[in-house]
Amino acid sequence: MSGWLIKGARVLGGEPTDLLLSDGSVTEMGPGLDTAGAQVLDASGLVALPGLVDLHTHLREPGREDAETVLTGTRAAALGGYTAVHAMANTDPVADVAGVVEQVWRLGQEAGLCDVHPVGAVTVGLAGEQLAELGAMADSAARVRVFSDDGKCVDDAVMMRRALEYVKAFDGVIAQHAQEPRLTVGAQMNESQWSATLGLQGWPSVAEEAVIARDVLLAAHVGGRLHICHVSTRGSVEIIRAAKARGVDVTAEVTPHHLLLTEELAATYDPVYKVNPPLRSTEDVQALREGLADGTIDAVATDHAPHALEDKETEWAAAAPGMLGLETALSVVQLAMVDTGLLDWAGVADRVSVRPARIGRLPAQGRELAVGAPGNLVLVDPAATWTVDPSQLASRSRNTPYAGLSLPGRVIATFLHGRPTVLDGKLA
Ligand code: DOR
Ligand code: ZN
Repeated sequence: MSGWLIKGARVLGGEPTDLLLSDGSVTEMGPGLDTAGAQVLDASGLVALPGLVDLHTHLREPGREDAETVLTGTRAAALGGYTAVHAMANTDPVADVAGVVEQVWRLGQEAGLCDVHPVGAVTVGLAGEQLAELGAMADSAARVRVFSDDGKCVDDAVMMRRALEYVKAFDGVIAQHAQEPRLTVGAQMNESQWSATLGLQGWPSVAEEAVIARDVLLAAHVGGRLHICHVSTRGSVEIIRAAKARGVDVTAEVTPHHLLLTEELAATYDPVYKVNPPLRSTEDVQALREGLADGTIDAVATDHAPHALEDKETEWAAAAPGMLGLETALSVVQLAMVDTGLLDWAGVADRVSVRPARIGRLPAQGRELAVGAPGNLVLVDPAATWTVDPSQLASRSRNTPYAGLSLPGRVIATFLHGRPTVLDGKLA
């Protein structure tokens, strides 16, 4: 017998049990398994969750391999407990044709650290003028189901309508970066007393909420599947809650940083805190946590956005927006949601794995850990703490907003299709 015997893991935080992984799947489960020949991993004290699934990762390849590559980004993903990531389309060239999504998908296969599911662009070159070849990307080897112009909003209502209609044919979803462009020209941070005080151009909540309100109405009208990227305001949570109550097919994600950090960090003028959408108020953070807890917000998605030093270590207004997220996401979710009593580990698994896998239509991911399930799982030590050291991260970039911060929870092991990608907190 070969494979891995995981001893004494608390599945979803429950009673300790053993799991046998062989031939890529969970083949036995229960207390006191005794399986000769399998490699043994002592998981006492560790919580087992289905492998994490990220709906929103910028891997930067092709085009900005100085910031991240599929290899370095999937190393970061595995270390963060992820077994699947969706690679955003705002690469160079843009992932708006079958050739580019197939290239990214193949690079993911070659790296072998995490399933890489490319996101296809909604419009050619993210320019918002012409629909990209959505069907060709869906039919390609990459089997694209999530489409997004992320980084840019699909602001033309006719374009958005057509996209929502088109993807129905292959059960796709349009993931909207909700940002009314005219209301956010030159925007640098949340519009509030803080932006006035700091002299930085404001990004008003209404610029996000207006697009979400329009898009849930469009989705209701044409019956297409809509997903809202990185929800950041209390008003957005309220609009999505109301739309779901009316039966609109809408899902939403929140980032770890919007669950933890607030706008006054901009007072440091340190561009590591510059992100799009911007960090918001304490009231917004509270509403996002409540929305995630009650299921209005379906998923945590990292918006992992690596940037090269020269794009980030410059004055605030000139700096690129975005933060690293993959290696710290689960710790930040534990801090914001578990240690506050808002979610238990079963709830965490639902929001970081089960629902994101469902939204991305990934049948091998986000499955209940039971006999017959694919061997995709993460073992986390919730009692451990660690201090974030940017120089120790696997990402090629260093732009983490958590440098020097002590975070709870440590990913000890990640298994992808029954084989370890991470053991003892290090790449296997
Ligand atoms: O902060 C962000 N960074 N927001 C986005 O929408 C795009 C992303 C990036 O590509 O860097
Ligand atoms: Zn975005």
